[in-house]
Amino acid sequence: MTAPFAPDWYRSAGVRSRPRRMLDEDLDAGLHVFPEHLVPHLRHEALAGIGETARRTLLAQHFYQYMLFTTHLETKVVNRGAAMIAHGETDLDLDHRDRQDAFKIYCDEGYHALFSMDVVRQVEKSLAVPVLPYDFAPREARLAETGQRFLPGRERLAQLLQVVAFETVVTRYLAQIPRDEGVFRVVRAVVGDHVDDEVHHHAYFVHFFKELWAGLDPRLRVEVACAMPHLVDDCLRPDLAPVRQALLAAGVDAATADAVLDDCYREESLAAAVRDGGRHTLRLCESVGAFDIPEAREQAYLLGLLDR
Ligand SMILES: [Fe+2]
Ligand SMILES: [Fe+2]
Repeated sequence: MTAPFAPDWYRSAGVRSRPRRMLDEDLDAGLHVFPEHLVPHLRHEALAGIGETARRTLLAQHFYQYMLFTTHLETKVVNRGAAMIAHGETDLDLDHRDRQDAFKIYCDEGYHALFSMDVVRQVEKSLAVPVLPYDFAPREARLAETGQRFLPGRERLAQLLQVVAFETVVTRYLAQIPRDEGVFRVVRAVVGDHVDDEVHHHAYFVHFFKELWAGLDPRLRVEVACAMPHLVDDCLRPDLAPVRQALLAAGVDAATADAVLDDCYREESLAAAVRDGGRHTLRLCESVGAFDIPEAREQAYLLGLLDR
């Protein structure tokens, strides 16, 4: 790999240069903890009469879930792969600088997990909306299942591809929250800090994937190409169990909660969101010829991510 990674990392990385972001209750008064328009179920007509307290609870839980998802993802998925790269435990011939850069990413992600959890605790204390338990296990299971299905016996390669997928997708959350003046300043600041680091990670993993692809034999290329659209889907498809749990905690009855989930998270809107958030990753796959492989194109088509 030849691309320079964040050349000024020791001074510019969030963990090296940014202050601890603190919630200032006076400054944040009158703002929302999270953009309402990014929470699909809040708009459902069945929730129109639930009252302001319940709405605030749902918004807070959505924020908590997003941040806690981040803490798990960074430490359990991304840093597992970053450590493998840093230790040279891949089939790629990476030089010392590339491996050391992977440890910079490791530090960044550890810090992202820390500040995400920190802000959750600050917000919880301020709003007095208790954080519900967050379970990352279903996401891990889904990722592992994709690996077993498309890359049997190649667990470590599958784990590296999980990182490529997570580090190259771009969610609307990252793009929109830092600019949203209706959102808590502390939330905009931490998401902004996160985006600034992730721009560099994105570039690193684009190069990493191209290098990895170049070294694959034709048979393995088919397996990797078929796995990638599923990994993109595994990254971006929301977990609905925590949403249901939040609805129940806000006082919504079980039948209404299920109806809201059915209406707000229909397959076509989920696939459209995955396609949108995954467009850079899908384009990366396309750029190396992955979707010239008919089986892989078929997998992407079946998930609603590409036209046939
Ligand atoms: Fe991160
Ligand atoms: Fe990252």
